[in-house]
Amino acid sequence: MNTAPASETPVLRVGLLGAGTVGSQVAHVLLTRAEELALRTGVRLELSGIAVRDVHATRDVELPPQLLTTDADAVIDGADVVVELTGGIEPTRTRVLRALGAGKSVITGNKALLAESGRQLQDAAAASGAQLSYEAAVAGAIPIVRPMRDSLAGDRVERFLGIMNGTTNFVLDQMDSTGAAFDDALAEAQRLGYAEADPTADVEGHDAAAKTAVLASLAFHSSYTITDVHCEGIAGMTAEDVAAAKEAGYVIKLLSVGERCGDGVNLRVNPVMIPREHVLGGVRGAYNAVFVEAAAAGSLMFYGQGAGGEPTASAVLGDLVSAARAIALGAQGIPLADYAALPAVSMDDVTTKLAVTLAVSDRLGVLARLAQVFADHGVSISTMQQTEDPRTTETSLLRLVTHTGRHADLMATVAALRGLPVVRDVVSVTPVESGEGAHAGAGD
Ligand code: NDP
Ligand code: HSE
Repeated sequence: MNTAPASETPVLRVGLLGAGTVGSQVAHVLLTRAEELALRTGVRLELSGIAVRDVHATRDVELPPQLLTTDADAVIDGADVVVELTGGIEPTRTRVLRALGAGKSVITGNKALLAESGRQLQDAAAASGAQLSYEAAVAGAIPIVRPMRDSLAGDRVERFLGIMNGTTNFVLDQMDSTGAAFDDALAEAQRLGYAEADPTADVEGHDAAAKTAVLASLAFHSSYTITDVHCEGIAGMTAEDVAAAKEAGYVIKLLSVGERCGDGVNLRVNPVMIPREHVLGGVRGAYNAVFVEAAAAGSLMFYGQGAGGEPTASAVLGDLVSAARAIALGAQGIPLADYAALPAVSMDDVTTKLAVTLAVSDRLGVLARLAQVFADHGVSISTMQQTEDPRTTETSLLRLVTHTGRHADLMATVAALRGLPVVRDVVSVTPVESGEGAHAGAGD
């Protein structure tokens, strides 16, 4: 415990870039709980400057006007440690490199930047001995970066499955539980501060893909970028898809997966149907969860708030306190161990199963014709259900779930079905996560 009088406590100047949803909450804690943080770290964390785009903008919390500036370089140069919460790639990358190059530790929540230029930033940190910390970049408030990097460093991670985007989980949950339309649920997520400045990154899966690349780099001791992640978003998801999944005992989630596959690793983000009793099936609202399977530790579950100002600020401040302690002890940053260099394996070679809804002509011989296509591709049907098509009396709906197969074979089957005259429309194609080892109560 730090028992030195306040006047003798060493000061660490904190430069903050960004005072939006997250940055304003970080500033609020630094301004209102400085004494408590000094007792925890042994150094006084003094907010020395805040860079924003518009110093006159209305903010969630009141900030001392003399700290606000549009000159980000001046904030970096006048700080001992930099907290980056502006987002985006440029000019942020240049600014982060400026700080790291000067030996100043950086804390960031910017998964987009890490998933594009993580290696470059890590190299800059290693060269100057600065720390690069980014707990907030993956799954908001949930401690998952440090557990993956440190706690599981002696184990072998086999795979992780996660709900790592709060906005899309909120949207899908609203659609599932209230029947809300996609656009209304998204507008509410934006109002609550979960969505990125441009929600396309959330809806198209890019935000989750960036987080997947960042987490996979730690899990598999390799450097991945967002381009290594197969990515599909939820933009095409309809109320009918969600309702049909619900009726069949499933819930649709935007799932982030990193798993060993042959000699490499498959990384993917896509909307999947998971059984409602699956541990990830009960993750509601903007909550996130990451389920990790490791050789020795077995199954681990991390759960909590994945977005929002205060929860994310908690992760940022945890990193800041850690960095302050390390700086006080004269410790250097921990370089990323990416010695394994496991290649990213194409989605084609992944084993999966699909739920396919077809609108078909309701006449003799249709089922036989469809079954032949599945047989020709070596794909086996697990379940099949025929219902009336609420849209028209000319077709009926066939909902099929396949057995597991190579993804490329399953998709080739769907393409061949699409070409059949009796198939009027391929209404939806959604992967199904079987959830082996991941059901609620598994291992009890
Ligand atoms: P906001 O859009 O709410 O805030 C961004 C802040 O950065 C604003 O204060 C803005 O200034 C400032 N800013 C933007 N561009 C510049 C620039 N070129 N120069 C100076 N200042 C700039 O973002 P969030 O707080 O939501 O997110 C910040 C980061 O945290 C992002 O990387 C995001 O991905 C990440 N993150 C966000 C989470 C969330 O739930 N919101 C959760 C986890 C991570 P001004 O206010 O004047 O416009
Ligand atoms: N837009 C992101 C989300 C913020 O919805 O999860 C947290 O990274």
